[in-house]
Amino acid sequence: MERATRIEEVRRRLDPERNAGRRIGFVPTMGNLHAGHLALVARARAECDLVVASVYVNPLQFGANEDFDRYPRTLEADAAQLAEAGCDLLFCPRDEEMYPNGLAEQTRVVPTALAEVLCGASRPGHFAGVATVVAKLFNIVRPHVAYFGTKDYQQLLVVRRMVEDLCYDLEVVGVPTVREPDGLALSSRNAFLTPDERRRAPVLYQTLCWLAEQLRGGRRDFAALEEEGRKRIAAAGFRPDYLAVVGAQTLAPPSPGERELVVLGAMYAQAARLIDNLPVQVGD
Ligand code: PAF
Repeated sequence: MERATRIEEVRRRLDPERNAGRRIGFVPTMGNLHAGHLALVARARAECDLVVASVYVNPLQFGANEDFDRYPRTLEADAAQLAEAGCDLLFCPRDEEMYPNGLAEQTRVVPTALAEVLCGASRPGHFAGVATVVAKLFNIVRPHVAYFGTKDYQQLLVVRRMVEDLCYDLEVVGVPTVREPDGLALSSRNAFLTPDERRRAPVLYQTLCWLAEQLRGGRRDFAALEEEGRKRIAAAGFRPDYLAVVGAQTLAPPSPGERELVVLGAMYAQAARLIDNLPVQVGD
């Protein structure tokens, strides 16, 4: 696997490949890779001629009191895993390369209202930071296909919408969440859980499964369901952030008869905020 830290190197490496008609798959990450990321790389490997991954902890998407400083940085271990998974090129830029004019002076992408609810309400500016760095990475790599985990469901919708609205000529593929045997979604932030919190953390997934079951069973009293779900999370010793039943494409409260729904949740442990979601298809 080759490694590049400069935008110019990436372009020099990929331009001839693109011109030769080779299909470029791209997996953007913030590193600290786990099996969830490797599933994205495996999918890209299976579908593309050339696989590019990026490892960059993007300061623009972290709020002032969030975990940017302690976000795990494990570049050498990440590079070894990517090479093993068949990645061809790793782009791991420094801040000066991505934001040469500084963060305050950076032109930003303003996402739609999709970015204002759920995680966007709890983390103001987060999705503008994500959309901006993803737009830059797309312009640097110019992939044919980009792979994102559905664990970050709202991020996936925000990116898809940006691709559509800003006319990016690429396909966005969502890859299913990889889970621990007890249901906990893999996340770099799981490392921040104490052993006792780790034991109790599957309550988020279990609550989403319970909600999905209620919806499939015909219940439509969304507010009561969400309230009951929050109680389950609190009873397991976590502070619920949000729990929501929404339309799968709109992230808005479901309209009568809407069949494609998603249940999403976020909760706080002592030193981590965990998120998860489940798509739910309901009958009339
Ligand atoms: O999902 C992530 O790891 C990040 O939000 C992304 C897409 C790499 C942008 O920094």
